[in-house]
Amino acid sequence: MPPVKINRFKIWFYFSIIIWILTLGSWVFYFISGSTVKSTDSRTEIVLNTKQRDLILYEMRTLLESVNHIIDGVAEEDYAKVQANAKRAGMQLSEEINPVFMNKLPLSFKQLGVKVHKNFDNLAESIGEKPDPKMVLKKIGAITSSCVACHSTYKLTVKDWGTH
Ligand code: HEC
Repeated sequence: MPPVKINRFKIWFYFSIIIWILTLGSWVFYFISGSTVKSTDSRTEIVLNTKQRDLILYEMRTLLESVNHIIDGVAEEDYAKVQANAKRAGMQLSEEINPVFMNKLPLSFKQLGVKVHKNFDNLAESIGEKPDPKMVLKKIGAITSSCVACHSTYKLTVKDWGTH
């Protein structure tokens, strides 16, 4: 029987291509689905570690505080206050979320999050000398409907083992 010739290079080449495709595939999969499990209610549960959960909830409380100060600002006709608080809740608030963490969040969660921050930036930019209070309330109404949409779709859960 002739000796079977194994081309090691070819085997390793195909092996590495397969690993590469699997890695890329799982990255794309997680980018879209995030790290999620079924929830006990009708929402989707996002699995984070304690630090990540705390960061998201800190951001959330900042968002609520901003909404609160913006509404007060309109009532007091203090538009510098409205503008400063809209800016505070804009894209700058999401800067601490790194790419690994980002991948744990489902795509539609990321999209809704970006939409809210951008709309706050947009509100900050639209405040001139004496803006129409109705315009501000309309914008804050549109923003808070995104808060409602996300809260009725997602919740958070913590798992610290093996997660980073
Ligand atoms: C992209 C999704 C998303 C958006 C948009 C969003 N939230 Fe949240 N928020 C969440 C999730 C998820 C939780 C955790 C809920 C749970 O686990 O039951 C949360 C929790 C909160 C909490 C509780 C914080 C704590 O310390 O327990 C507050 C307050 C809050 N959000 C305010 C807001 C406000 C105000 C807005 C809009 C200006 C907003 N959120 C927009 C997803 C979102």
